[in-house]
Amino acid sequence: MKKVIALLSVLTLIFALAGCGAGNTGIQSEAETKAAETTKAETSANTSESTDENEEEQSNENADGSKTLVVYFSATGTTKGVAEQIASYTNADTYEITAAQPYSEDDLNWHDSNSRTTKEQNDKTVRPEIGSEKISLDGYDTIFIGFPIWWGEEPRIMDTFVESYDFTSKTVIPFCTSGGSGIGSSGDNLKTNAGSGNWLEGERLTGSDVQRWIDNLNLS
Ligand SMILES: Cc1cc2nc3c(=O)[nH]c(=O)nc-3n(C[C@H](O)[C@H](O)[C@H](O)COP(=O)(O)O)c2cc1C
Repeated sequence: MKKVIALLSVLTLIFALAGCGAGNTGIQSEAETKAAETTKAETSANTSESTDENEEEQSNENADGSKTLVVYFSATGTTKGVAEQIASYTNADTYEITAAQPYSEDDLNWHDSNSRTTKEQNDKTVRPEIGSEKISLDGYDTIFIGFPIWWGEEPRIMDTFVESYDFTSKTVIPFCTSGGSGIGSSGDNLKTNAGSGNWLEGERLTGSDVQRWIDNLNLS
């Protein structure tokens, strides 16, 4: 008898919960709708993110078996645009350097002598931490390294990057974007700090001169 009562109680509970569920699916509050939309958007973003990741994993290899990588840091998107052009023109993979502590608008204010970037650029020993996951350079023969010019030089996070990797036997080609300044000593600074690799002379690029520049490099 006890078992029958217990079974009836369980069945009653199941029906009660099913009733609640049905009520919820019928009418969604604005908050619930918003939450559902957010979840949908997040799911779709995650899906496209994981697709991107998969694409990144399928690395591009040239007919002769060589592989090219375009590494870049870009605070406001200009260098990223040029990097993507280089990658598309050279059939390369890309790797974005991001800062563990992202640069805010205030951080990027070069009019402020106390802003984070001004202070970092005034001290050649600063090495901002990289937030992006480490990449293996194995198999890459040619590596483009792009960055914006900050106070006439490479952002210090680029020094963090080159000091973290071994470029032995790799051809390394620096490039930058800027408001007008040339690449100056940045390529040499990076070469010295890297301490390995066959570094070619770098250049300041705008979107329109990528193809000409790469053709003139006469890479194999
Ligand atoms: C902190 C800071 C300092 C800069 N210093 C220079 C400079 O010395 N010379 C120059 O031509 N442009 C300078 N710029 C402009 C950037 O180099 C230029 O906008 C660059 O294309 C931005 O690239 P990104 O969008 O990839 O970050 C500076 C920008 C910032 C934020």
